[in-house]
Amino acid sequence: MDRETELLDKLLASKKYREMCPDTIRRIWAENRGRYKKLKDVDNATREALHGVSGAFLTDAEAAECAWAMHAWATGARTDAQLENILNKHASTRERLPLADMDALYARIFGITGKPDRILDLACGINPIYLGARGLKATGVDISGSAVKLVNSFGSTYGMPVRAVCADLLCPGAVPGERFDAALLFKVLPLLERQRAGAATVVMESVDAASLVVSFPTRTLGGRRVGMAGQYAAWMESHLPRGRQITASFEARNELFYILQRG
Ligand SMILES: C[S@@+](CC[C@H](N)C(=O)[O-])C[C@H]1O[C@@H](n2cnc3c(N)ncnc32)[C@H](O)[C@@H]1O
Repeated sequence: MDRETELLDKLLASKKYREMCPDTIRRIWAENRGRYKKLKDVDNATREALHGVSGAFLTDAEAAECAWAMHAWATGARTDAQLENILNKHASTRERLPLADMDALYARIFGITGKPDRILDLACGINPIYLGARGLKATGVDISGSAVKLVNSFGSTYGMPVRAVCADLLCPGAVPGERFDAALLFKVLPLLERQRAGAATVVMESVDAASLVVSFPTRTLGGRRVGMAGQYAAWMESHLPRGRQITASFEARNELFYILQRG
């Protein structure tokens, strides 16, 4: 086995990244291969990039706690407090709690889009767990195998109407080809753009859904406001996917939302 295959195999099998979509690891490795001469530098840059795109949102410990919280919900009274305890384990859903605020957010979104029968949740994290618990049918896609496993166990073990696929939105075939009523792209477009310039538009244009619901963070993970809302508003308004127009936009808590519908 050559040195490059050995290093890449080690990374694919590593404790930190063995749950991550292998296509993502190979894609980022190949991109860094073109940037660095030394394999050690390729390896370090790939690990750093992988942490930035997914590692920071759901740690292994949080994923394990989430599985326990889900079991407690399923075998208990299935209260909102138990559901909140599940959603609290992922950095992105945590920011939308308490649950009453999350319910109000979705009521606002569905007041504009109509209540969707089928939802596509791209770069979903564990958000489909909320959707399923509220009786909505959702299909998620994410590169985090840990998040995907949690969503799938909520679907198959506990009989909720959700499922998820571990796939990289920057690789061909990752966006499901079926028609959906609404597609959620929550707090992911800047991450996609950082991974490949132009990727956010390609992904938005490949979705077959009457409504796209897009969101952007307005604070850093540390909670600071550094002008992100204005920057992302300007970006969204100048990067509308072909054939779509802005039906509504609003800020809720730490997030800026856009609803894009066919024009
Ligand atoms: C900020 S979190 C948002 C999670 C969820 N959308 C939410 O708002 O609750 C970003 C998510 O994007 C996923 N992600 C990053 N790059 C991706 C890619 N290329 N393809 C699919 N998912 C990706 C990460 O694993 C992470 O779960």
